[in-house]
Amino acid sequence: MLRFPDGFLLGTATSSYQIEGGNVWSDWWYWAEKGKLPPAGKACNSWELYERDIELMAELGYRAYRFSIEWGRVFPEEGRPNEEALMRYQGIIDLLNENGIVPMLTLHHFTLPTWFALKGGFEREENLEHWRSYVELIADNIEGVELVATFNEPMVYVVASYVEGMWPPFRRNPLKAEKVAANLIKAHAIAYEILRGKFRVGIVKNRPHFIPASDSERDRKAAEEIDYTFNRSLLDGILTGKFRGFMRTFDVPPSGLDWLGMNYYNIIKVKAVRNPLKRFAVEDANVSRKTDMGWSVYPRGIYEGLKAFSGYNLPLYVTENGIATLDDEWRIEFIVQHLQYVHRALEEGIDVRGYFYWSLIDNYEWAEGFRPRFGLIEVDYDTFERKPRRSAHVYGEIAKKGEISD
Ligand code: NOJ
Repeated sequence: MLRFPDGFLLGTATSSYQIEGGNVWSDWWYWAEKGKLPPAGKACNSWELYERDIELMAELGYRAYRFSIEWGRVFPEEGRPNEEALMRYQGIIDLLNENGIVPMLTLHHFTLPTWFALKGGFEREENLEHWRSYVELIADNIEGVELVATFNEPMVYVVASYVEGMWPPFRRNPLKAEKVAANLIKAHAIAYEILRGKFRVGIVKNRPHFIPASDSERDRKAAEEIDYTFNRSLLDGILTGKFRGFMRTFDVPPSGLDWLGMNYYNIIKVKAVRNPLKRFAVEDANVSRKTDMGWSVYPRGIYEGLKAFSGYNLPLYVTENGIATLDDEWRIEFIVQHLQYVHRALEEGIDVRGYFYWSLIDNYEWAEGFRPRFGLIEVDYDTFERKPRRSAHVYGEIAKKGEISD
């Protein structure tokens, strides 16, 4: 058996827009109404059923829960916070603590209040004052949680929203994209100043495992370059004050991180291409059967990622790792194999403090809608009934015992 250290958090993760339902104040809702995105509707109805969700976590034996606050819910209008919504989030934290489940809070998980988005969102530096008000509201009113992440997958947000044009506000403009990234670093710095001391403040980075498509020098260089741009540049910006964007370098306020979260899902092959505007092409590495997201599974990548991130000398958390499949036996195998590799990282002295499976329940997978099912718990989207899959119980045993088979 492989044992995890005492206090190692074995939990699950979700985000507000993906599970709560009825987030009519958010930009994703706004664009869904215009037909540009799948509607989230009542999602998992977790805004009403959060007690049931927490009860299930407790019954199953999960020790930690990462979730997010919907900014548009607590600030439905500029300058007018909604106290009731804030109190609900406080209630969720309290209930988790009463059940011995360690909460981890994310402040931005892809969505924005529509009013903020329509002002240009993070494209405009002036708008950071609104972010400041949001963060101050949280600092003044939320307690009982230690781990707070400012941004979830900031580079995914930047690329999907401003390079690929798949997510609101559907831009394809790398110059704008890198400006947004620089502004997110500034926003992190603002939040860090406000929140430090009261909370342990971190950020959640997605880290795909990039490999070169061939042994050629050009492909290897391309893989290194994309690994830097996508996986590290933003963190370096936060920590050093110099952010190397896609084309320009930005001076940003250096700030801090008390911990670093890594989301790990997949392995991607990188090929150099002869096109000055698009220097590389990426595709799934095709090293296994594909998940319902079309992704290859590569458990060793979680270890490689932790090893790479250990260079930052920060406490690390695997803030997300999961698989979209209806084959629940495959999910069990996925979890065990990834945890074995997390354990290997621990054995090598890497400071990993926890692992959060994505996701507690099936939910709204952004532009993919409700089709992909990542949940340990199945959700019936008509009745909102929750049915734990076998994986939910297996993972619960792992969490309760703090060990897995080797
Ligand atoms: C990472 C994102 O944070 C989360 O919102 C998403 O559902 C999962 N990846 C799966 O794609």
